[in-house]
Amino acid sequence: MLATGLEGVVAAETAIATVGQESLGLRYRGYSVVDLAEGASFEEVAYLLVHGELPGRQALEAYRERLAALRPLPEALYAILRLLPADAHPMDVLRTGCSALGTLEPEGAGRDQYAIADRLVAALPTMLLAWHHAGRSWVPHAEPSGLAHSFLLALHEREPDPLSVRMLDASLILYAEHELNASTFAARVTTSTLSDFYSAVCSAIGALRGPLHGGANEEAMRLIERFPDPDSAERGISEMLRCRERIMGFGHRIYKHGDPRSPLMKSWSHRLAEASGDRVLFPVSERIEALMWREKGLHTNLDFYSASAYRLAGIPTPLFTPLFVLSRITGWAAHIIEQRAHNRLIRPSAAYVGPEPRAFVPIEQRG
Ligand code: CMC
Repeated sequence: MLATGLEGVVAAETAIATVGQESLGLRYRGYSVVDLAEGASFEEVAYLLVHGELPGRQALEAYRERLAALRPLPEALYAILRLLPADAHPMDVLRTGCSALGTLEPEGAGRDQYAIADRLVAALPTMLLAWHHAGRSWVPHAEPSGLAHSFLLALHEREPDPLSVRMLDASLILYAEHELNASTFAARVTTSTLSDFYSAVCSAIGALRGPLHGGANEEAMRLIERFPDPDSAERGISEMLRCRERIMGFGHRIYKHGDPRSPLMKSWSHRLAEASGDRVLFPVSERIEALMWREKGLHTNLDFYSASAYRLAGIPTPLFTPLFVLSRITGWAAHIIEQRAHNRLIRPSAAYVGPEPRAFVPIEQRG
């Protein structure tokens, strides 16, 4: 039978994450994602995914220092970023930046896959922020609290509030890895042809960009902010459902009984809403959640409450999906490395539904 969208197809073995298996829940290399999001930093999780084990104190410190040293970009890359249109989508900027870095610092020539993984974890945030600040070089300060802190500091050019930093750190952990999602699968397909690391990451960024995958967090935000209060949200969403429109941030291919990451993000969104005195975003989001459950039996996925949490932390909507990239690069890197270790070309087949065999007619006789 045809598995449209490859639903239900087991296409690889992995030691990186378990997703949707009843007794295990979502785990990164055996660790519960809830424990990681509540107790670890993004850098610990990045190290776990890319290098296989949680770091000890010294290894973590060395890793943070290595990432800080790897953040600045080659001058040629800043120049390329400055040439991109100001209204380009930052996902296109990251895809282009990743590709350009692959020409400036190609794989091989003394650079192994772990070095490239660390370089991309460090350099993708710089590309995003440099482009956001109109091509200005971003040289980060010492990074006592990691990417979440330095990202918000560089974005707003002032010390961020600790609640926003903790929310972003937890969100980066929740976004870091998710088994054979579309972008990771794209990375593994490209890797399976023995292509280079950067090409695999560019494939993944392109796949993540779409609204059925990572782009859903931006679309969810655009939807939520259309409504000034919960009652108009109820009317607006009901009308959209009547017109059979898709509501971004709801539903999941694997999780049919709820996304285990979603309650964590909801609680961050709630905390930020309370702290900022928000009376619209969170109540509107909750009303949409209740309506979607009542009318469609659909749960929120991670992207839905990420939207209001990011907005309440002052992050502009076009940076939402790029933030997903800055996190998921760790999962992609782990999968590229794993695919290479047990590689076989990924090349499925298709059921042919085209025309019956027919005779070729030369152009002179075709009329
Ligand atoms: N809004 C309205 N209807 C929906 C939605 C939704 N968000 N999601 C699924 N449905 C309906 C869909 O219309 C279909 O109904 P029918 O059978 O009457 O045509 C039914 O549910 C099954 O949908 P499907 O597209 O076949 O299911 P899937 O397993 O292929 O879809 C999904 C998974 C994530 C693509 C889908 O739920 C969706 O489009 N959600 C909105 C986009 C979104 O939030 N994506 C983020 C995914 S999770 C995190 C991430 O990767 O970024």
